[in-house]
Amino acid sequence: MKRTLIIAALFIAAQSMFAQSSGYQKLDEWLEIWKDSHKTLLGYPINEQSELHDFYKWYVETGMDQINLNNAGDPMTDNPWNISTQAFEKDVIDFFTPYYGFDKDNVWGIVTHSGTDGNNHGIYFGANYLTNKTQLEPIVYVSDEAHYSNMRLAHLQGLDVKLVKSDPMGRMIPEELEKELDVTRPAIIVYAMGSTFRGAVDDIPALNAILAKHPEIPGVYRHVDAALFGGYLPFTELRDMVSQKLMDYESIAVSGHKFFGIDSPCGLFLCTREVYDNQADFSVTYLNGNMRMINCSRDAVQPLKFWWLIQKVGAEGWTKQAKQLLDCTYYLKARLDAIGWPAWLNECSNTVFFKRPSKEIVTRYNLAQGYDDNFGGELAHIVVMQHVTKEEIDHFIKDLEEEDD
Ligand SMILES: Cc1ncc(COP(=O)(O)O)c(C=O)c1O
Repeated sequence: MKRTLIIAALFIAAQSMFAQSSGYQKLDEWLEIWKDSHKTLLGYPINEQSELHDFYKWYVETGMDQINLNNAGDPMTDNPWNISTQAFEKDVIDFFTPYYGFDKDNVWGIVTHSGTDGNNHGIYFGANYLTNKTQLEPIVYVSDEAHYSNMRLAHLQGLDVKLVKSDPMGRMIPEELEKELDVTRPAIIVYAMGSTFRGAVDDIPALNAILAKHPEIPGVYRHVDAALFGGYLPFTELRDMVSQKLMDYESIAVSGHKFFGIDSPCGLFLCTREVYDNQADFSVTYLNGNMRMINCSRDAVQPLKFWWLIQKVGAEGWTKQAKQLLDCTYYLKARLDAIGWPAWLNECSNTVFFKRPSKEIVTRYNLAQGYDDNFGGELAHIVVMQHVTKEEIDHFIKDLEEEDD
């Protein structure tokens, strides 16, 4: 009996070992390294507590993994076709519509491939909208602290760009925007809602006030790049900051793989209906529709994952997570202050930047690095995501203290 039990235990152990091996050495080795390093990933805006395990189980068990899906087409206007998940994509946009302060009858949106894809749509839709309305070529205004994708995309789209100076904390300076404005041409302004390194939020009301001082500008389009902060802000008391109605913007892009915890890149793009209605027509007969979005084939699995998380985590879960994430951010800043380690934090931000520690600590905690003479030169930052707990912060602080001794 005892022998049988031992053999059974060995069999189960061998099976689980086998289950963990892909049969490919390179893949298995990579997995081991990744398992080790992701535990201490503090420097990047990745939510390491993805809640998609049940989704994958359902996906494989139902044979969905053997079906090729594609969301080519417009989820807001098409009759969904049977190899798409556009009906779920539309549900996702409907769910988020009030969280970004859009009216139900004045919104259009898609699940994008990434935050960058959302910015691409923002800049492209802005350029089409303004050219359609004014027959003039717009200029893109973006701060020198904003994510590089915005400059890259404006360049790609052949648009003139003016970089507007930001203050030391990374916020676009309203007076500098005014200095840069060319009032003879329409303006696309990209507002940073959480810049990548410093977590700076552009003061949208103050910048809008500058634009309002110049009614002679032939047309204005405001796109909000809210890749990370657009995830948690709607679930906090600071939600007004991302409200289309209150902040008076035309479009917004948010990443799905940052705060929301989708396990590979995707995002949200929402704009007003007026913007959508002023896009160039691309009537594509074989798709039986008017293709306003940039991509033809679009991922059909990411909208399903988004939809799944809305059911599973939803507003209640995201509200709890947003609170925990900001509490831990303030905790990290307070702990750094307490040990006298120079550190800075923007309002509403989950990104603390500080004097760069040794290379060893930077590597151990996967810290992202920056440089700024205004803050003494070499810097690093921590982005406090869902998996960054107070316990983890205490370990980090202890390592800093030991280094300082
Ligand atoms: C402010 C900001 N905008 C855009 C992006 C690009 O987003 P994605 O990586 O989803 O393309 C990032 C990425 O970190 C970001 O921080």
